[in-house]
Amino acid sequence: MKIFLDTANLEAIRKFNDMGLLDGITTNPSLMSKEGGNPKDIMKEITKIIKGDVSLEVLSSKYSGMIEEGKRLHQYGKNVVVKVPMTSDGLKACKHLSSEGIPVNVTLVFSPNQALLAAKSGAKYVSPFIGRLDDIGQDGMHLIKEIKQIFSNYDFGTKILVASIRHPIHVVDAAKIGADVVTLPPAVLDKMIQHPLTDIGLENFLSDWEKLKARNPNMQI
Ligand code: G3P
Repeated sequence: MKIFLDTANLEAIRKFNDMGLLDGITTNPSLMSKEGGNPKDIMKEITKIIKGDVSLEVLSSKYSGMIEEGKRLHQYGKNVVVKVPMTSDGLKACKHLSSEGIPVNVTLVFSPNQALLAAKSGAKYVSPFIGRLDDIGQDGMHLIKEIKQIFSNYDFGTKILVASIRHPIHVVDAAKIGADVVTLPPAVLDKMIQHPLTDIGLENFLSDWEKLKARNPNMQI
């Protein structure tokens, strides 16, 4: 399963990329608005840091505007995937951009039918938002199971990019189902690294080593 980071924060992107953890990045207008600076510079910088796919979202809700913006966004880097919303105009833009060789991520997907239609329109990725479904009392992960089954039945090439992830258990469940990608807020990726028993174990190793050093002051490794 690929891991994308769901952020436009360059510091976080560099931090996790230096650990070799990142296969790509997803952004959206809300994530861009959290960052200071010029969004164009940020988007260009992300495409330079990350070798894998970088999703940059259009702002227009109309087909012609999406095509215009999608083409401009694609010039920011060869690895740009244009993110369009799951609407009629979005699907039309998905078909057009995909047929011109510009990969598309259809976002704001909340039902298996929406995922099916995005795949039919030629999307490279569909982005089901599981946390937002959980928030309204529906089972977000069930949607991932349904999309996985539908896509395997018909051999769609479209990848399932699980979005709106809230905690590490979401990641484990998505991996068990066989989702292609999870896109994670930096805080969730941080939590996945940590375990209290790792911290306690390390503390014990170091204090035991101090005891050994006290007996052999010139000891080095
Ligand atoms: O990429 C966007 C998606 O992950 C949104 O997440 O937390 O705003 O529901 P959230």
